[in-house]
Amino acid sequence: FTAVDVIRTKRDGGVLSPGQIDWVLDAYVRGDVAEEQMAALAMVIFFNGMQREETTAWTHAMINSGQRMDFSGLRRNGRRLPTVDKHSTGGVGDKITLSLAPLVAAHGVAVPQLSGRGLGHTGGTLDKLETIPGWQAEVAHRQLVEQLETVGAVVCAAGGDLAPADKKLYALRDVTATVEAIPLIASSIMSKKIAEGADALVLDVKVGSGAFMKTQEAAQELARTMVALGTDAGVHTVALLTEMSTPLGMAVGNACEVQEAVEVLAGGGPADVVELTLALAAEMLQAADIDADPAVALQDGRAMDTWRAMIRAQGGDPDASLPQARHHHTVTATHDGVVTGVDALQIGLASWALGAGRARKEDAVQPGAGVILHVKPGDRVSQGEVLATLHTDTPEALERAARTVESAFTVEQVQSDGEPRANVLL
Ligand code: URA
Repeated sequence: FTAVDVIRTKRDGGVLSPGQIDWVLDAYVRGDVAEEQMAALAMVIFFNGMQREETTAWTHAMINSGQRMDFSGLRRNGRRLPTVDKHSTGGVGDKITLSLAPLVAAHGVAVPQLSGRGLGHTGGTLDKLETIPGWQAEVAHRQLVEQLETVGAVVCAAGGDLAPADKKLYALRDVTATVEAIPLIASSIMSKKIAEGADALVLDVKVGSGAFMKTQEAAQELARTMVALGTDAGVHTVALLTEMSTPLGMAVGNACEVQEAVEVLAGGGPADVVELTLALAAEMLQAADIDADPAVALQDGRAMDTWRAMIRAQGGDPDASLPQARHHHTVTATHDGVVTGVDALQIGLASWALGAGRARKEDAVQPGAGVILHVKPGDRVSQGEVLATLHTDTPEALERAARTVESAFTVEQVQSDGEPRANVLL
């Protein structure tokens, strides 16, 4: 095979053979296919798509580029532990893993969450947990197994040997505007998840302005593609489509999202975060054949106990105060009305600009930076009322971020009959 032939086949609407796919990904990892050739191939796949059998072969080639983990030997009290994994396609204010992993683990399920750091406007789970003093994202394989057998939940950095072809390709897609291709997203996510070796997988596929998939149809296609890939690989896979046009919860950032997850684990927290945590937990428990109402473990403290054990096992202090940013700024309502929209993408971009995210993968994030919402769609507000508070250590970022946050809110004026008047922007 040659790279030029493979690119030409896809360019002209042809179908790649499994042999061509194995070859091109293997040669890319070895450096025999150049970055510009893989960039061209990713771009023709973006435009021309892939057939189901091509996506399957692509996924398997990426899995075979690295190691597969095996958790089938996990035991507690002599009994085999089921392993269930969860993946979100990424959203704004999505801190669900933090409360979900200990909640599900509290029911006797092993939950290995091999996670990443954020790039772009969607935050990374590791960046959030790293705001907890002492907490370590790097966990050796032996500790991972031991922590799963004792605590049940581990959230840690994915090792470099899990689908290395994806790691290299994802970095290339990120800088060549080829991320948003359904076969490439599906194979990227599923190669890592299948290589992780859990018995079951629950996918949270986001749809809306703050997500990769902006429409219901696209999100459904992504979900179906991923479920088919998982099922074909012998992993019990289900997907939920969930809303991402408004941020999840009230906190968007790093430390503030940990704080909100802890509120959920304490039996409180915003209704939308609790609802999604419980919906995903119910799917994960069902996949592990466990008949229990997960809401009970949030109320009786078992989920919180597992969280504390999980943080301690990785060197963190669950009682330590979380870092706070030095500068604050509030955005207020210019008129009375009803909040009818809080755009997730704008809030995500503002939080990113305030320092909660990174522009290049080697950048550091600010632990205390982010946006705290004070109102959500459906809330009535009065002129001058605080809609959101911005937090940062870089005050020069405040003015622009404040304008972005202002533009995220839609406040409709209310007529005397109480009905909102359409399209009155703040
Ligand atoms: N997350 C991934 O891991 N890969 C993608 O391609 C998109 C989101």
